[in-house]
Amino acid sequence: MQTEIVAAHFAIDRAVALLRAGEVVALPTETVYGLAADVYNANAVAKVFETKERPHFDPLIVHLPSREMLDFVARTDSRLARELMDKFWPGPLTIVLPRREAIPDIVTAGLETVAVRMSAHPVFREIISVFGGPLAAPSANRFGRISPTSAQHVKDELAGRIPLIVDDGATTHGIESTIVRVMNDTIEILRQGPIAAKALRQLGRVRVNAPDGSVIAPGQMATHYAPRTKLILVEKLEDFLSPPSKRIGALAFASASTSFAALRQLSRRGDVREAAANLFRMLRELDNENLDFIVAERVPNEDVGIAINERLKRGATPDARAPLE
Ligand code: TXA
Ligand code: MG
Repeated sequence: MQTEIVAAHFAIDRAVALLRAGEVVALPTETVYGLAADVYNANAVAKVFETKERPHFDPLIVHLPSREMLDFVARTDSRLARELMDKFWPGPLTIVLPRREAIPDIVTAGLETVAVRMSAHPVFREIISVFGGPLAAPSANRFGRISPTSAQHVKDELAGRIPLIVDDGATTHGIESTIVRVMNDTIEILRQGPIAAKALRQLGRVRVNAPDGSVIAPGQMATHYAPRTKLILVEKLEDFLSPPSKRIGALAFASASTSFAALRQLSRRGDVREAAANLFRMLRELDNENLDFIVAERVPNEDVGIAINERLKRGATPDARAPLE
């Protein structure tokens, strides 16, 4: 199959026609690019799993064209859940809710809950509203790989497997949506993301699921954030003594250092939002540099920096120590 990248402006009708025909299409969202299919077409959803090589136990996020459609996919008895939607939708927040029967089991991996989101991306919104129904859309990468933040990343991951990638440039947030579930009066964070605990706390008590800050959303293994190259996480790049015989790449927050074979700075002006937007692209770039390993520096643990550090921690090679020679 030929995979075409088409500029958003020219791709709307074609994307909708393909979705109606039960095909999968890669679409931009404000977080990362998604691989979309008609929720109610189990065959189309099966293609999503096949294309991504994703195991069937890992459920997909359901994207809504409008708030009115929510009732068709989930129950929203919780007042706190509705307040979250009022405040953060459309936007990078996914909410896990009790599901409705009509959702095919393949979408929810047989769970009694469904993860729901409403994207704020203008191109995504236009396509889903012309399509006129909910779309299942996980990130548009092969299973276990870094999420794509540009059309070219999607092509690198899925060329030959899908007909169309709708291109609207780099995504704004650069990391996947925050996932929460609501338990009585508590908001439980299942995956850290662009909407940080601090913002959620305005609406209720917040708990980060799992004591060590790790995540229980079923599909969140460490490998999701790991480049192929070994990744070492350090507090500060300047404290890292680089062994001279190795080709080492550095992923810095704001600092610049010339002692590495390759250097990427997440945000020269020290802005965690900009850092998040650059994170996956720069990890991919370093991964393509044929390095012995990559040293990444923690970013300030505030706002979306928490979600960045969480991904770096998961992406880091377990117990990786810099080799001394
Ligand atoms: O920003 C995003 O959320 C992107 C864009 C494309 O919308 N999508 C995304 O989807 O990151 P995906 O499939 O790569 O990650 C969704 C995560 C998975 O870890 C999955 O296990 C979890 O959400 N998930 C889905 N349904 C769930 C449920 N009912 N309960 C708990 N976790 C769920
Ligand atoms: Mg994913």
